[in-house]
Amino acid sequence: MHHFTYKNGALHCEDVSLEAIAAEAGTPVYVYSDATLRRHYGVLADAFTDTDCLIAYAAKANSNLAVLRTLAELGAGADTVSGGEIQRAMHAGIPASKIVFSGVGKTEDEIRIGLEAGIFQFNVESRPELHRISRIAQEIGKTASIAFRVNPHVEAGGHAHISTGAAEHKFGVAWHEAEEFYREAADLPGVDPVGIGVHIGSQIMSLAPLKEAWTRVVGLARTLRENGVNITRLDFGGGLGVPYKPGDDPETPAQYAAAAREVLGDLDVQLILEPGRLIAANAGVLISRVEYVKERDGRTFVVLDAAMNDLIRPAMYSAHHEIAPLREPEAGNTRISVDFVGPICESTDRFAKDRPSTPLKEGDLVAFMTAGAYGAVLSSQYNSRPLVAETLVRGDAWSTVRIRPDFEQMIALERMPDWLDG
Ligand code: LLP
Repeated sequence: MHHFTYKNGALHCEDVSLEAIAAEAGTPVYVYSDATLRRHYGVLADAFTDTDCLIAYAAKANSNLAVLRTLAELGAGADTVSGGEIQRAMHAGIPASKIVFSGVGKTEDEIRIGLEAGIFQFNVESRPELHRISRIAQEIGKTASIAFRVNPHVEAGGHAHISTGAAEHKFGVAWHEAEEFYREAADLPGVDPVGIGVHIGSQIMSLAPLKEAWTRVVGLARTLRENGVNITRLDFGGGLGVPYKPGDDPETPAQYAAAAREVLGDLDVQLILEPGRLIAANAGVLISRVEYVKERDGRTFVVLDAAMNDLIRPAMYSAHHEIAPLREPEAGNTRISVDFVGPICESTDRFAKDRPSTPLKEGDLVAFMTAGAYGAVLSSQYNSRPLVAETLVRGDAWSTVRIRPDFEQMIALERMPDWLDG
């Protein structure tokens, strides 16, 4: 469910015409829907009303400050994976007491940022990291609440590149070593082992692998409690998938919540969730303009002004995004098969191959649907294309929430060495 619909023949976000945004903000441009963000957060929160649950939105999915602030207003916490994300979340108004810090490579500086802010929890991924956190916490006179992210040896996720729970993946501590790690942590100063974390992948369409992983975690919590480690929190990670194309049928938040409750049984713990895509994906689109329609060797290439640097998911994960014309096609319109491509000199700069589409011409506008998660956050300035702009709609109002840098801003971080000056 989202708030991008045709009204009077033109695609709108809530009550704003996307053509109007494109005309003023230029293209390519991301457009996010406040109502959709709120709805997704609300549906998930409602599904867990009877459970003591912190929804720590995975900031990596879309960390625009306005998006984070919108979610902060709703009471969301944040799952973060860098010092920058911790600072971003706090800057947007998410209290440190709701921030979880995940990630396999936390640097000394990042750990300090988390400790000094007094974040809710560190999800620890290795023994050396445990000792590093313990040492820094002692140095600055703090105690870190920690969970080990365990690797449950359960494979899941929509694409091999976004599956994280198998033994070959770099994530988490080994299942067979987990108990030993908790014993070790219990004896270390500066750290307080209070939780267990798990995250097995992203764009997961079925609950079975999640339930399998959670069940293992619940079993471990019971064992640890019997052995005197007071586990009070379980972090069930993120990963629930979203529909990218007709026919995609992920489990609903209500089914997800029912499964979590079933697995938890009578275990009295606080639950932490780290959803990213579920909240942000359907809340955003990327608008692009057709630059050229190029016919060659029996193919029709629709060359857009958006490129892989603006939306890398098709190039990186063979991801499918529906591509909708901003002008509503008439009923019974003809469809032709086209390749949607960007202008970058790489063959992977192709958004879709042999895609049925209404005929398009130079100047027409299209929207990449379901682009609110892992879209703008993964954008770059490759080919010296300015970073893509972002906008946020609320009802009949909209605002630019990240500007498109001009040339001076694009080069502002670069310096000439002395020997090239003058
Ligand atoms: N928690 C942890 C520890 C994670 O690593 C992730 C995502 C999440 C939560 C949020 O997962 P979600 O609910 O969004 O599935 N760039 C890829 C997705 C990478 C996901 C990485 N980790 C894509 O565009 O499909």
